[in-house]
Amino acid sequence: MTELQTSWFSLSFILVCSFLLFSRIFRALRQRYLWCNCEICHVYLTSSWTKQFANLCDWYSHLLSKSPTKTIHIHVLGNIVTANPNNVEYMLKTRFDNFPKGKPFSAILGDFLGHGIFNVDGDSWRFQRKMARLELDRYSIRSFAFEIVNNEIESRLIPLLSSFSAGKSVSGFDGNGGVLDLQDVFRRFSFDSICRFSFGLDPMCLEMSVPLSEFAVSFDLASRLSAERAMTASPLVWKVKRLLNLGSEKQLKVAINVVNMLAKEVIRQKRKMGFSNHMDLLSRFMRTVNDESYLRDIVVSFLLAGRDTIASALTSFFWLVVNHPDVEAAICAEADRVIGPNRNLKNFEQVQKLHYLKAAIYESMRLYPPIQFDSKFCLYDDVLPDGTVVKRGTRVTYHPYAMGRLEEIWGSDFMEFKPERWLRNDGVFRQENPFKYPVFQAGLRVCLGKEMAMVELKSVALALLRRFEIKLATPPSQRHTQPRFSPGLTATFSGGGPRLSVAGFRRW
Ligand code: HEM
Repeated sequence: MTELQTSWFSLSFILVCSFLLFSRIFRALRQRYLWCNCEICHVYLTSSWTKQFANLCDWYSHLLSKSPTKTIHIHVLGNIVTANPNNVEYMLKTRFDNFPKGKPFSAILGDFLGHGIFNVDGDSWRFQRKMARLELDRYSIRSFAFEIVNNEIESRLIPLLSSFSAGKSVSGFDGNGGVLDLQDVFRRFSFDSICRFSFGLDPMCLEMSVPLSEFAVSFDLASRLSAERAMTASPLVWKVKRLLNLGSEKQLKVAINVVNMLAKEVIRQKRKMGFSNHMDLLSRFMRTVNDESYLRDIVVSFLLAGRDTIASALTSFFWLVVNHPDVEAAICAEADRVIGPNRNLKNFEQVQKLHYLKAAIYESMRLYPPIQFDSKFCLYDDVLPDGTVVKRGTRVTYHPYAMGRLEEIWGSDFMEFKPERWLRNDGVFRQENPFKYPVFQAGLRVCLGKEMAMVELKSVALALLRRFEIKLATPPSQRHTQPRFSPGLTATFSGGGPRLSVAGFRRW
């Protein structure tokens, strides 16, 4: 290239970037204010909420509980946030088509999730949902999930905790002084389970002697870096970094390449071996879909959906249960009654009979939902049932974390951990209106893995609570303080707060 061509290329590049930048700023100005002096925006911009609240979600919960409509508008973010069940129903069901995920969300996760179910709207979403539902609603897949989860529990989780309770140090785990970080254990456990379920592939993350697989490390990195895109001041920041292949975007590209390579290799192997009688999700989809990149996208979406959510739900469940010995005792008593003392869970039918355990899990996710908030983008100007005017292009967020802490929904004891609130007088689990409890989302896009999640959560909860005496290693002075969460797509306990570290002692 001559010098003249080079400078002409650079000039054009700068002009295109400037044009993109100005059109973005112009669009942003139309939808939101760069500065706003209202009280909420002022507190947000100066971050002064941190003086009073441990997490942003706690501050939002406070604001939403004080708002007469249970809806607030953070003008500088162009974001309407609601905890009003009528609004939630309106967005997720009544006017579903006017509140899609939208392009900003798809752009953030697009490189990682491709056109997988999580990341698309319209016909593509409808088609995938129908197909995924056909498979996930089958009885056979639930039994398959039960087998995988319980095999992982018996062959890895219990031996790991047994080693710790016997005071042995285990390589690869942060087990200082017989204390184990359960959040780390649950992340590895759920990754093994969901990979075996989705791909029929075992990354062996919980295997004590094996280092973390390249797949697990790259998958983790790709999901963390994709989530971090959402935290940049403007999407332009990560888009420019991606264009120039810099910093975190460069790392993300490498991590996604590894995930793609391994996913493609699995698909290739499956084709070679034949997939007609395999039970895993990929084999099931391969019987109807031929497109390789589409298969890759479906499977990666499922891994993301079923991994961090489960680890998060288990972490907060154990954190709450070990703080409430009466609940722990009631869970164990129900299990002895339904399964028999000193016996393991036999099958999926038995899991369904554990109503108190289900209530305890729902109650813990009320206070600590794995997905604390979820946003949609309004397509055309609209008005929510509480009278809030929504301009097209506005981000509208419903907030399960704040909704779980509303007196108007749960009564004056809303901050208490009380599984009984989910039970009828005869002890049978009582379903709540899903728009008051959108922990699994609700309406047309409700979570497809809900049943499977319950199998996994119940199996792990029982296996550990019945076999081990789990104690919080956090000093007593910090035990009842609020957990702190790391920023990300799914709630993760961060260091500094009362992290869930436990010691285990074999009970039977
Ligand atoms: C405690 C565990 C779980 C929770 C709290 C949970 C929650 C959610 C939520 C809130 C959504 C909506 C997300 C969005 O649209 O942005 C969702 C969607 C979804 N979940 Fe789950 N999930 C859990 C476990 C699972 C598991 C284990 C699987 C699969 C094996 C799964 C599969 C899916 C799928 C496929 C969707 C997309 C549905 C659609 O867009 O139509 N989930 N889940």
